[in-house]
Amino acid sequence: MKEKLKEIQEKARKQIEEATGADSLNDIRVGFLGKKGELTAILKSMKDVAPEDRPAFGQMVNDVRSQIEQQLMQAKAAVEAKELESRLSFEKIDVTLPAKKNNIGHRHPNTIALEEVEKIFIGMGYEVVSGPEVEKDYYNFEALNIPADHPAKDEQDTFYITKDILLRTQTSGVQVRVMESKKPPIRMIAPGRVFRSDEVDATHSPSFHQIEGMIIDKGVTLADLKGTLAEFARRMFGEDTKVKFRPHHFPFTEPSAEMDVSCFKCKGKGCRFCKGEGWIEILGCGMVHPKVLKMSGIDPDVYSGFAFGIGLERIALLKYEIDDMRLLYENDVRFLSQF
Ligand code: DAH
Repeated sequence: MKEKLKEIQEKARKQIEEATGADSLNDIRVGFLGKKGELTAILKSMKDVAPEDRPAFGQMVNDVRSQIEQQLMQAKAAVEAKELESRLSFEKIDVTLPAKKNNIGHRHPNTIALEEVEKIFIGMGYEVVSGPEVEKDYYNFEALNIPADHPAKDEQDTFYITKDILLRTQTSGVQVRVMESKKPPIRMIAPGRVFRSDEVDATHSPSFHQIEGMIIDKGVTLADLKGTLAEFARRMFGEDTKVKFRPHHFPFTEPSAEMDVSCFKCKGKGCRFCKGEGWIEILGCGMVHPKVLKMSGIDPDVYSGFAFGIGLERIALLKYEIDDMRLLYENDVRFLSQF
């Protein structure tokens, strides 16, 4: 019996030593100490032991049992420690690694400039409206007093979709749409995309943006136009900005003008920016032509108004000192992130 016990003890020790994981340790436990285990079986054969030897034998079995339990416990702790170690080394985080950079988008210079223009005119009581980019010939040309044989209607400049439908070449058509749908007083600006059949270069693009503006009320005069646009220029480009109106021609305004602002870079002295002129042209404007008012259902004997059209890209290029318009359309984040 004693021999048998020794054998079991040695066998258990060896198996525990060789066990590789928690599962095999558990199998060993069951195999020796379980209900049908080898050690349990030996206890059952107690009856074959002489009565006087039984207490000593029982003690021996218990000793072996607790020894095996002890070994199992130690082996289990070792296995767990090893598992933890390998998991930790696998999950290790190197806190010195550079963080992953989350690139966020940037507002486009056009967007920033437009928001500034809008803010200024909203502050003067103007409403922001919009019109369709695919427009009728009537709104883009005819209702603006642009006769059928006007050079602007030439197919070289205008993208026609059908004979009567085109991609608008200017936002001025929105003036007519607003006059048709609203009674004066009207104060509106209409920013939007326009299209012209131009080759791409540093100052041209087949698609660009304008901001149309118009005010219609009783007794609006050229002095209102000058005062309003001069104030706009000061708020947009700085308090000391001077403005200059040069006579011009637009079919839908009479009289018409172009407005220059004193170069905010050199303050009028002349520099690379204003091409030595000291002045930079930023918009076209004029008193709304009586014919245009009449065609849109507004009585020119009662009402008058002025209108203007600002080139948005021009403002953005000037404001942010960008010298090639193409940069505005490439959407290169390295460029955009500078604004
Ligand atoms: N539509 C003109 C253009 O594209 C700009 C313009 C000039 C708009 C005078 C106006 C205006 O409203 O009064 O060149």
